[in-house]
Amino acid sequence: MTLALRASRFIHSLLVSFTLMALPLTAPALAADKVELSVDVSKAGAKIDRNIFGQFAEHLGHGVYEGIWVGPDSTIPNTRGIRNDVVAALKALKVPNVRWPGGCFADEYHWRNGIGPQRAVTLNPNWGGVIEPNTFGTHEFMDFLDQIGSNAYVSVNVGSGTPREGAEWLEYMTAAQPTTLAKERSANGHPAPYKIPYLGIGNESWDCGGNMTPDYYLSQLKIYSRFVRNFNPAQQTSQQMLRVAVGPGGNEPRWTEWTEAIMKAYQQHTWSWDFNGLSMHSYTVVRWPPSFKSVGFGETEYAQILKSTLEMDDLITKHSAIMDKYDPQKKVGLVVDEWGGWYAPLPGSNPGFLVQQNSLRDAILAALNLNIFARHADRVRGANIAQMINVLQAMIITDKEKMTLTPTYYIFKMYVPFQDATFVPVTFDVGTYTHGDTSLPRVDAIAAKDAAGKLWMEITNIDPEQPVEIEANLAGITAKSAAGETLTAPKVDSVNTFDTPNTVMPKPISAKIQGGKLALRLEPKSVTVVSVEQ
Ligand code: AHR
Repeated sequence: MTLALRASRFIHSLLVSFTLMALPLTAPALAADKVELSVDVSKAGAKIDRNIFGQFAEHLGHGVYEGIWVGPDSTIPNTRGIRNDVVAALKALKVPNVRWPGGCFADEYHWRNGIGPQRAVTLNPNWGGVIEPNTFGTHEFMDFLDQIGSNAYVSVNVGSGTPREGAEWLEYMTAAQPTTLAKERSANGHPAPYKIPYLGIGNESWDCGGNMTPDYYLSQLKIYSRFVRNFNPAQQTSQQMLRVAVGPGGNEPRWTEWTEAIMKAYQQHTWSWDFNGLSMHSYTVVRWPPSFKSVGFGETEYAQILKSTLEMDDLITKHSAIMDKYDPQKKVGLVVDEWGGWYAPLPGSNPGFLVQQNSLRDAILAALNLNIFARHADRVRGANIAQMINVLQAMIITDKEKMTLTPTYYIFKMYVPFQDATFVPVTFDVGTYTHGDTSLPRVDAIAAKDAAGKLWMEITNIDPEQPVEIEANLAGITAKSAAGETLTAPKVDSVNTFDTPNTVMPKPISAKIQGGKLALRLEPKSVTVVSVEQ
């Protein structure tokens, strides 16, 4: 949270207290409150790395099999086994990278099972103990990325693999010279080396990735970062592969110690080992095991989940401060490569498949988190929502030939203009929304300037009952017109289903420029993105 935001929140809470003391008990319902925002385009900040809009596709439930891969013989329209409807939908999100093959799955994944004409049939012990046919392997993943126009973020197996296995996988994927592994890749249909821009070295190595201590993990990190090499000639001097080390998983002291240990070692790293990103995982769950419902809930659960999701800000602030201590030049990016709402499995579903619905609440949750990442753009250089299809807070839900786009999908679509845009600070009074004993800020907003110099603003009204009148003072530009979209729905738990796919989707909003100021009315429980023409 910026200092300005904290100060305005404090002033606002004082004002609210005084106002409440002065109000008679029978006060009439409030009309739409006016909230003033100030944006100064000349005060540009860090670049909002497009990689914060990354996705995560683990071999888990129907995330990969059925969600992406139906096989070339399927009656569902597909290109080389990859479903066409899903590809078309994802293209529109300009997905910057996809993290694969896990998650916990990655530390039990042996890449040789997933190449060539004969695939080994194995098990997926983490996620329901089901059969893993390995029909979706390295080549299918790369084909999928090509089809959606995205980049690979490959997680290498540190938990049950070996440095040699990891090194050989990377040689298989990236070598251009005619090594035995490169020739095998070519024989399997891809003569040209693949580009691997991001490499995750292990996943949650403090838990499902092998229950390692920080020191044990550090010894593995040094070995993997040295020997798991990228040989692609196009990635030697520019576009070098960025290596992401395992980082914290929450707010407990053990993760503060983890970040301390890894970053302290980084400060003293030598030429022979290095990393460029520190991963962080943080789900919005409130209680473990996940027990909040993903549909059929009321305002209490709405307010509690959104309050809880805002803890992401403190978590990033805390771990960024540790990183600043050992890496003041901010060479290492914080990569929040698993985040999102994690709720109780839908009744009747396999609990190991992490199936949940996706509501308007999740759309707002996504917007709040993306705004937090944008505010920390100087340190947060990547994030991957969990997960892309059919698992946890998904973009897309499928059932055989049917597909629906979730409210979260539309948020990612609305935020496309913020990819690689330059952060512009916004000051405003966040206000307070209270339900029962849960209070949280009522309004959230970010602004950014795209490559063409156009100003984009996102404003969220969390309050599910009260609209808000926005008046934004725009300095540094001569605003002429504004246009945008807003996403809301009848209820906080409104969802899109196969039968009613358009319940939660963005609609055009009318925004005016009056006397150089932007004026618009925000619906209750809404996310709005507007652009300003000058
Ligand atoms: O996203 C589901 C699981 O959550 C991942 O496999 C694991 O990394 C995390 O605990």
